Amino acid sequence: AIALGLALIGGYLLGSIPFGLLIGWQVGKIDLREHGSGNIGATNVGRTLGTRWGLICLGLDALKGLLPVLLLPMLLSGLSESAAPHVAVFAGVGAVLGHMFPCWLGFRGGKGVATALGVVAMLAPLSTLLAAGMFAATFAVSRIVSLGSMLAAVTFAVAQFWQLAPTPFSRESWSMAAFSVAVPLLIIVRHRENLKRLLTGTEKRFSSKPAAKQ
Ligand code: G3P
Repeated sequence: AIALGLALIGGYLLGSIPFGLLIGWQVGKIDLREHGSGNIGATNVGRTLGTRWGLICLGLDALKGLLPVLLLPMLLSGLSESAAPHVAVFAGVGAVLGHMFPCWLGFRGGKGVATALGVVAMLAPLSTLLAAGMFAATFAVSRIVSLGSMLAAVTFAVAQFWQLAPTPFSRESWSMAAFSVAVPLLIIVRHRENLKRLLTGTEKRFSSKPAAKQ
């Protein structure tokens, strides 16, 4: 339990670094929360400051999900043999929660997609590939990032349960199974404003022209 708690906290601390907000402050001298969708994620960085900075933010936000999943098991797996298969998953959950609910910003953070991408690229490469394919296809057709993100989250969950069947909640895989339900669900809940806009036909399509410079 100590190893899992430390993994969760370590992941959270890394995940809570708000790269989008920092890029907004540094590059655009703006508070990203007052521009575009008001989100502090890579999409809104791209929308507000241009695709190049959006991609840089995507990379940094993914890295803060990838690094704890890679590094914390090396540090913590020795603490408990029974916890070892779950340390990476707890580190990943921590990172996503850190991005969504950073204590430094009154627990008001982003939607978790880029950070989750970094986490699942390490934990579940095949499901990540399928989810990324769904994102790419949706975005190519609609140019709406939020729709791609939500469909990718659902695709990830389905792909995971297909692979973990018939015993998703076994002793080795329960944390991965719980992750595969909880994280996509959280991502969708964090997109509730986007969902409302999608249903009313007011969600913005992504344009490569930065809004702050128009
Ligand atoms: O990852 C967030 C994306 O799916 C939506 O971002 O800024 O359009 O709300 P945004």
